[in-house]
Amino acid sequence: LVLVLDFGGQYNQLIARRVRECGVYCEVIRYTTPLEEIAARKPVGIIFTGGPNSVYDEKSPHIAKEIFEMGIPILGICYGCQLMAYTLGGKVATCTTSEYGKTETIYDKSSALFSSEELPEQAISWMSHTDYISEAPEGFTITAHTENCPVAAMENPERKLYAVQFHPEVNHTQQGLTMLDGFLKNVCGCTGDWTMGNYAKTAIAQIREKVGDGRVLLALSGGVDSSVCAALLSRAVGKKLTCIFVDHGFLRKNEGDEVEAAFADKDINFIRVNAKAAFMEKLNGVSDPETKRKTIGEEFIRAFERESKKLGTVDFLAQGTIYPDVIESGTGDAAVIKSHHNVGGLPDYVDFQEIIEPLRLLFKDEVRQLGIELGLPENLVWRQPFPGPGLAIRIIGEITDEKLSILQDADWIFREEIAKAGLDRSIHQYFAVLTNMRSVGVMGDGRTYDYTLALRGVTTTDFMTADFARIPYEVLEVISARIVNEVKNINRVVYDITTKPPATIEWE
Ligand code: XMP
Repeated sequence: LVLVLDFGGQYNQLIARRVRECGVYCEVIRYTTPLEEIAARKPVGIIFTGGPNSVYDEKSPHIAKEIFEMGIPILGICYGCQLMAYTLGGKVATCTTSEYGKTETIYDKSSALFSSEELPEQAISWMSHTDYISEAPEGFTITAHTENCPVAAMENPERKLYAVQFHPEVNHTQQGLTMLDGFLKNVCGCTGDWTMGNYAKTAIAQIREKVGDGRVLLALSGGVDSSVCAALLSRAVGKKLTCIFVDHGFLRKNEGDEVEAAFADKDINFIRVNAKAAFMEKLNGVSDPETKRKTIGEEFIRAFERESKKLGTVDFLAQGTIYPDVIESGTGDAAVIKSHHNVGGLPDYVDFQEIIEPLRLLFKDEVRQLGIELGLPENLVWRQPFPGPGLAIRIIGEITDEKLSILQDADWIFREEIAKAGLDRSIHQYFAVLTNMRSVGVMGDGRTYDYTLALRGVTTTDFMTADFARIPYEVLEVISARIVNEVKNINRVVYDITTKPPATIEWE
């Protein structure tokens, strides 16, 4: 186990992901975690993350000097690097020119961090700082520098303390991963044998022990996380698991059946609630986006409630909470209830004893790997994020059966062509939106007056900001032609070229 001590930097999750990419299990904990607790977990290494601007700022996070006396190897990154220098008696000053972005860096190749043959003596690192270390603490040697930064890396191998001013976790740092790997293998002595297969085995054993003879209930939304959660639980407890899959009818074409099929051969109680009629009735006359979302969220809960009541008391309610939700909550170990409509608020009205969250330590890409490991089909595991209210918020204005099937058909063609063009993993989210605008067209010899369909495709790292995807014109051309030809009632296709912000990814 390696512990990533979180000082509030923007790349903290990325550090943890990279460590796991090196085959080493790690967890992110807050910098305020008491030293005794850290020691009790027996980490083989600790990484300090980046954080706020200056160690001199009163409000900036600090750490007790004793952490450096514990004999555990420590790697400080960015703010973590300055904090190490400052705490151990080095000097930190404000840069005359702050360094930001790609920076030429000279490395000392004899360092355990920089010994990889792939790393040249001079290479690019990713910098982002306004303070710098002007003097390394006693006992430290300087192992990298840049034009404006005399201490871009420093180390005291005897005490197993290492620090880098730049961000090795960011892709722009050439060979950054080998630097982290160097720390983990050369300094901490990790073997790098942590794999998803091992994880699955351990998780299954832990779930079995916890659940015992109890009964587990899972609300399956059909999304990736809840599906993988269901697959893991089914391996662990089999028939003691009941999955209630509330199908609101706004899933993509065939998706409900695909989800059901994925669980057909699993030895669990699988209940699919086809609730489309109830949802459509509640949405009759509703066109305001927020009212739609709230109505769907509420009805989802009611449908789940109606079904789960039939089961009586269950021992465990399972949730597909994943690691980014846990880290972002800032509470570390408190139970996090996803605010997604499909699970939000469940604990209030379902009779259960305890929550279990078997994915709470995994990142999204790891959840996908686990899904594959557990034998879920690739197309299910690699689906893109899909909003809880589904296609209901991709039909602008009032929802009708007719519009729903127009959108399902058009969206299907869009996805099929994107996959054919080999773009399905590089565009992070892509979908069709049925606008409520009609326009004039001509087909054959006749005038048409039909709907305009909008295509949306975005690239993003965190879905908080996004750029529109540069889909080649040739691909757009094929998609547009197929949609107007094959889908009734669409005579115009447009492509959304706004970024987020100012637009959002979804239209409603
Ligand atoms: P926006 O439209 O806010 O979307 O830019 C950001 C990301 O969140 C997804 N999204 C949702 N996911 N329940 C979800 O589980 C929702 O209600 C919901 N609304 C938006 C959206 O698809 C995009 O990936």
